[in-house]
Amino acid sequence: MILDGRDPAAVQRAAEALRAGELLGLPTETVYGLAADADQDAAVAQIFAAKGRPSDHPLIVHVADAQGVDHYAQAVPDFARALLQRFWPGPLTLILPRRPSVAAAAAGGQDSIGLRCPAHPVAHALLLAARERGVHGLAAPSANQFGRVSPTTPAHVQGEFGDELLILDGGACEVGIESTIVDCTRGAPVLLRPGRITREQIEQVCGQRLRDKDELAAPAPRASGTLEAHYAPRAKVRLMEGKALQTALQVLGRDFDGGKATIAVYARSILHVPSVNLLYRRMPDDAAAAAQQLFAALRDFDAQGVQLIWVEQPPQTTEWEGVRDRLQRAAAS
Ligand code: TXA
Ligand code: MG
Repeated sequence: MILDGRDPAAVQRAAEALRAGELLGLPTETVYGLAADADQDAAVAQIFAAKGRPSDHPLIVHVADAQGVDHYAQAVPDFARALLQRFWPGPLTLILPRRPSVAAAAAGGQDSIGLRCPAHPVAHALLLAARERGVHGLAAPSANQFGRVSPTTPAHVQGEFGDELLILDGGACEVGIESTIVDCTRGAPVLLRPGRITREQIEQVCGQRLRDKDELAAPAPRASGTLEAHYAPRAKVRLMEGKALQTALQVLGRDFDGGKATIAVYARSILHVPSVNLLYRRMPDDAAAAAQQLFAALRDFDAQGVQLIWVEQPPQTTEWEGVRDRLQRAAAS
């Protein structure tokens, strides 16, 4: 059931449900989450079951503000403190050493915990209402079946989990791809997942270079958002440079003779598309705008029964890193 997130009574009702150990479709500025009280292991177990996600894949815990950190984290390195002061509330998740007595199920058994303070007004109101009821944080992975495209509207969430699930409607997500994740447990900041907040922004605030996953000796913890194949629509995704894409379209044009559209083209370049039976959608030239609509576009192609999605490779600049990462994973499955 979808409730209007702007209605204070709906927010109270949702907070009550979380307190009672139920699940909730949670709007955030990145993507919708499937939330439960992070301190109730049984409620957290329901998240893993509903998503079909292996229970050793840790979840992100959402907190109302920086105070919420102390309940879950054992220590906060200076560079992590600087990051949360600069970017919270916002699309940044910090992996911190976990207090051993809390949120073991949400952390998937890791001795660390992923924390994020979302910048969505409905999420913020809900987190405050939950805290008044003794709920310190909400474990919430993206509200999609394991391996699938993350949801950016309440209707997407309902499509994944049915009408039984209580969903707070916070509109279409503004960022559109999941938060940037920085591991702060290895002495230096390590980028686990790129997102709207770029490398340069992080390095500037930390005053040190952002390491890549494979760069430090200690093994990175398991993270499903970092699996090679993830974020996949049902259709096959192929990434191509603009020129190769135009050539492929010309070759196709010779033999392609109508019928139902089975191929979609998603490109920034203006291409000559030879057949009306190809679905052609322009990707925005702006990285933030492209991220905002990426998952909805992939879901639309699926809904139209497309078998193959040809996507023009985004630019190699850092502001496109999040979009490139999600597309590479979609293409890897
Ligand atoms: O934007 C987002 O981050 C969204 C919204 C709902 O907040 N959430 C999200 O959650 O993307 P999820 O579970 O789909 O992805 C969380 C990622 C996973 O790759 C998970 O493994 C990683 O964060 N993660 C969480 N806790 C971790 C930990 N302690 N150590 C390493 N990775 C962790
Ligand atoms: Mg996810």
